[in-house]
Amino acid sequence: MTHFLDLHTTDPAALRQMIDSAHAMKAARNGLPRGTRDAEQPLAGHMVALIFEKPSTRTRVSFDVGVRQMGGETMVLSGKEMQLGHGETIADTARVLSRYVDLIMIRTFDEASLLEMAEHATVPVINGLTNRTHPCQIMADVMTYEEHRGPIAGKKVVWAGDGNNVCASFLHAAGQFGFDFTFTGPPTLDPEDAALKFAREKGVRVTIERDPAVAVQGADLVVTDTWVSMHDPESAKERRHNQLRPYQVNAALMNRAKPDALFMHCLPAHRNDEATSDVMDGPHSVIFDEAENRLHAQKAVLRWCLGV
Ligand code: CP
Repeated sequence: MTHFLDLHTTDPAALRQMIDSAHAMKAARNGLPRGTRDAEQPLAGHMVALIFEKPSTRTRVSFDVGVRQMGGETMVLSGKEMQLGHGETIADTARVLSRYVDLIMIRTFDEASLLEMAEHATVPVINGLTNRTHPCQIMADVMTYEEHRGPIAGKKVVWAGDGNNVCASFLHAAGQFGFDFTFTGPPTLDPEDAALKFAREKGVRVTIERDPAVAVQGADLVVTDTWVSMHDPESAKERRHNQLRPYQVNAALMNRAKPDALFMHCLPAHRNDEATSDVMDGPHSVIFDEAENRLHAQKAVLRWCLGV
């Protein structure tokens, strides 16, 4: 069974093949009129279940559109409306869905739910975000960097703000794709130790620098994310804003990076909190290419999982 659960548990050669495939599929669609399916229809006859236990715009739409472009069909399921949200176990849900569909994508809270789904499903399972990681997002981010600037290997990526689940997947990507990673944020919001350890053991330079102005020097890519994640309590908002305000990505900070540095944010953003609108809409920003590339990168992930 070929699941796509995380970047650090996927063979780096397979990750590279998926990025290359994503670029090729994007290029093949270049110039096609809107509404046109791909020339190749590798998912014809396939049904994909998209389960959301948390809100989503990009993940939901990009998976749905990607499957349809490749000739497949989808059903979008809300965790709350399934028996899953009313006491049925993940294991039983996995066994039942595997009798109907050819692949399951799930966005859930605990990583344990994703792993239980993968253990009991007899079809491939894709991680559409957990509280711990967001691998599909970072596949799109690596693709986006490379389409603008060439190979990401050896480059310096700086993450400013909360060391959250997206940050953890970026650390996994640093190890797998071979780029250096600097985290700048308050000590209480450091990335998880296991992700830091993974990247370091892969031999890439991983730095924690509390001063954002120092951290971004020489950066090829500056990344941030929302200061309050979907799984964080609303009560944490004020404290987090106070802690994270010094790490806002604004024009002054961006100007300390390399002149050709890119800026990314996986979105949704709270404009003028974690990043100012002049950066988000400015010349360094590739945030909407990044959002588009969720579509192409995930199409490659789907094909890899299904072997088609
Ligand atoms: N970046 C991301 O995963 O967006 P959604 O929450 O809208 O899916």
